[in-house]
Amino acid sequence: MAATRPVVAQPTGFVCRPVMPTIGAEIEGLDLREALRGATLAELRRAWLRWKVLVFRGQHLSHDQHVAFARQFGNIVNPRGPAPPASDDDVPAALEPVSARAFAKNAGPAGDAGDEIDQAALQFIVNGSFSADGRSRWTVQEDRWHADFTCAIEPPAATILRAIEIPPYGGDTLWADTVAAYQALPGTLRNLMDELWAEHRFTNGAVPLDAANPGRMASENAVSVHPVVHVHPETGERALFVNPSFTRHVLWLSPRQSAIILRLLFDHLASPEFGYRLKWTPGDLVIWDNRSTVHLAPADHLEEFGTNRLLYRAMIAGSRPIGVDGTQSRAVSGPSMTEL
Ligand SMILES: [Fe+2]
Repeated sequence: MAATRPVVAQPTGFVCRPVMPTIGAEIEGLDLREALRGATLAELRRAWLRWKVLVFRGQHLSHDQHVAFARQFGNIVNPRGPAPPASDDDVPAALEPVSARAFAKNAGPAGDAGDEIDQAALQFIVNGSFSADGRSRWTVQEDRWHADFTCAIEPPAATILRAIEIPPYGGDTLWADTVAAYQALPGTLRNLMDELWAEHRFTNGAVPLDAANPGRMASENAVSVHPVVHVHPETGERALFVNPSFTRHVLWLSPRQSAIILRLLFDHLASPEFGYRLKWTPGDLVIWDNRSTVHLAPADHLEEFGTNRLLYRAMIAGSRPIGVDGTQSRAVSGPSMTEL
């Protein structure tokens, strides 16, 4: 007999449909335009911590409704600082546009650093993956997995993305479960990783930061030292806390040793066993736990197919990561996330 897909009806009435064994769930039965009742919000938080990525289909929220939903999960932070992002429409300072066109525009060496994809584009340049003319159609963008702004001393706890314009094909987002990835390491490697700390930087300085609005994380080059394995502040679970977009080197190791250790972890994180891939539809809203996942948007080069991808992002304030020995992360330089 074929197994049926598990459907978990919550006591407060919504339905949670897990997608993968440890990560990703679709939530049905809630209208996010309305404020959530206390018991419902508590259930939703538990589902979010359990499944790490929650997807709400077809919500079609306004900017203000998006911000109001996000504030139920904590204070909103903006890496650009108090000034609202440059935009041609009325985007609240709490939200940032994330678009494929912005990526294409910014993929050149004098790009406008800022949002999720722009940052990845920067790293793309750092990695030297562009062809000579900078516009190779099928250049594979290597090492773009990241959690948002781990260069900051208090990286965001959550990111909330809302889809406005989604292409008929491509434009997906992928996540990987960093708790499962940690648990899947052999015990001897877990013990080693528990002991290590690593430096996270917004940029290694190789990228020209002459854009009009690069954001404070970029212009002031935020640098923090975090544990390679951190203890999740709400679940107590251990999770890998490195990513190829921000983690530059492991402390106390030689450059070669550090590169080998990080390569092992980055490849491990990208294993499909830990992954969840979302095909967006317009109106969808997703909240993910930035402390127990990494994510990436594949470089589909949508602009070359005459299509676009536009989402808006809000981020929720996080806490200073803590290693397995109870030691906290420390700031090296640069700004903190700005609470709005
Ligand atoms: Fe991101």
